Amino acid sequence: MAKRGRFITLEGIEGAGKSTQIAPLAELLRARGLEVLTTREPGGSPLAERLRALLLDPDNQGMSETTELLLMFAARSDHLERRILPALKAGHWVLCDRFTDSTYAYQGGGRGIDPVRIGLLETLVQGELRPDLTLVFDLPPELGLGRAKSCAGRVDRFESETQRFFEAARAVYLERAGANPERYRVIDATAPLETVTQAVGAELNAFVDLLESRS
Ligand SMILES: Nc1ncnc2c1ncn2[C@@H]1O[C@H](COP(=O)(O)OP(=O)(O)O)[C@@H](O)[C@H]1O
Ligand SMILES: [Mg+2]
Repeated sequence: MAKRGRFITLEGIEGAGKSTQIAPLAELLRARGLEVLTTREPGGSPLAERLRALLLDPDNQGMSETTELLLMFAARSDHLERRILPALKAGHWVLCDRFTDSTYAYQGGGRGIDPVRIGLLETLVQGELRPDLTLVFDLPPELGLGRAKSCAGRVDRFESETQRFFEAARAVYLERAGANPERYRVIDATAPLETVTQAVGAELNAFVDLLESRS
């Protein structure tokens, strides 16, 4: 049986650089001989991508917080069953652009949903599964939103949120990272692109080195 792959998530607010950095991180792992799946949330499977479209559509302005939360976890459930878990079982490494930390940050911090409720859904959908490593791209919302707006077409339902929303989301990411330094690495995402690529690559290499030294 193949050795189980590792599950690595990229987190942070809008414009932090997650989607830009995922390709070089995948290349780094491939260069080390690992099979890699890159994917994203919400989305990552055909059904979940359809739910993503509903979640991001600015026309769905009246969506309640609970509906949003449930759609996020519905998408996650399908993505896990159809793509993430099969890949991990086959021994592939999975790099995922956003996962449940985004739910704690956005629906929890941003919208104000009690994290205990989010935890119930996390257990329902994921069982014991948690990422092996979470890279938090940290930067002030004004910088991230400036970057996101300059590269975006139509502004989605989250990008149009207030700076306060993203301050709260950022605080949740940092709090979660601070409470569990084993799993999280906080990256300074204010630095120039190449500097961030190097910093995040160094963290990932160190993680692989550590696993290899243990096996
Ligand atoms: N370190 C950086 N410095 C300057 N611009 C960046 C940096 N990282 C990403 N960008 C740019 O910011 C925009 C948003 O980056 P992106 O990777 O899409 O962020 P995210 O996926 O975290 O929302 C893109 O235009 C990208 O080229
Ligand atoms: Mg992105």
